[in-house]
Amino acid sequence: MSDIYIAFAPLQGYTDAVYRRAHHECVGGIDEYYTPFVRLEKGEVRKKDLRDTDPVNNMGVPTVPQVIAKDDDEFARLCDALQGQGWKRIDLNMGCPFPMQVKAGRGSGLLQYPDRVEAIQKEMLRRPEVSFSVKMRMGQESMEEGLVIMPIVNAMPLLHVTLHPRLGRQQYKGAADLEAFCRFADVCCHPIVYNGDLLELKMEDGELVIGTDAIRTPNIKGVMIGRGLLARPWMLVDKNPREVLHAMHAVAYRHATEHLCGDSQILSRLHAFWEYLDIPHKQKKAIMKASTLPRYREEVAPLFSK
Ligand SMILES: Cc1cc2nc3c(=O)[nH]c(=O)nc-3n(C[C@H](O)[C@H](O)[C@H](O)COP(=O)(O)O)c2cc1C
Repeated sequence: MSDIYIAFAPLQGYTDAVYRRAHHECVGGIDEYYTPFVRLEKGEVRKKDLRDTDPVNNMGVPTVPQVIAKDDDEFARLCDALQGQGWKRIDLNMGCPFPMQVKAGRGSGLLQYPDRVEAIQKEMLRRPEVSFSVKMRMGQESMEEGLVIMPIVNAMPLLHVTLHPRLGRQQYKGAADLEAFCRFADVCCHPIVYNGDLLELKMEDGELVIGTDAIRTPNIKGVMIGRGLLARPWMLVDKNPREVLHAMHAVAYRHATEHLCGDSQILSRLHAFWEYLDIPHKQKKAIMKASTLPRYREEVAPLFSK
């Protein structure tokens, strides 16, 4: 295994505490698992989010809770809640492109408000006990936005910056812009983590290869991988995919059947487990169609046998 930093990206609706634990215990190879963002709803920190970040549910799993905020006030309240749970490590989301968040000035929408980002930077300085990181895009509408923000990001006390080289308005369309990534890396004084469209980890002569070119930047710290790992949770380790799938599914299945009520609730949770997985289309379709647990068990069983 390489000595670069490898993070499992946060994916709302997929990488909850149960999934993260299943991956950590059955697969491994990840330095840090990021939680989907914790946010405010009607002025309160969402209870559901705080259950996901509850240290009891994350014990033994290297976890980084993430927050999404539109200003320093929201940011401070979210940090208070997480620090109240005992966290000393927090990631700030400045990259979520979902229109509802962007319109409210959160996620990649925040990149259009340098004054608010600066107020958040000052709030970070008031919390020296916390190790912060930032996950961002290059801008919401244009790359200029990201470049304007960069000096403020540079003034933040950060472990690293994770950069997804697309604009918010692109959501997930178009190719990740590797040239732009390098331009940002050049002006970023923090170690930088690459995120976007990685389906494997390629190293050549100790250098990370992204796309067809080794990304040659002196301060690259590592990578964050999302959908690639949901598709092939075993991609970073030398383990039998069937065995990985079987073991991870056993954790997810046990948790769903012990904590949820009725086949439809249980199945909707379990369907998320399969949604991104790299399995034959026909089998996935049959699993997604199963509307009773016995039928579901029948459909998944062949995927675990030799
Ligand atoms: C369904 C979905 C949910 C996501 N939820 C979050 C989130 O809560 N926080 C965040 O920072 N990024 C979130 N992302 C973005 C991913 O963390 C990641 O940046 C993106 O998928 C690109 O990386 P990948 O190509 O390796 O998947 C989400 C993406 C998807 C598709």
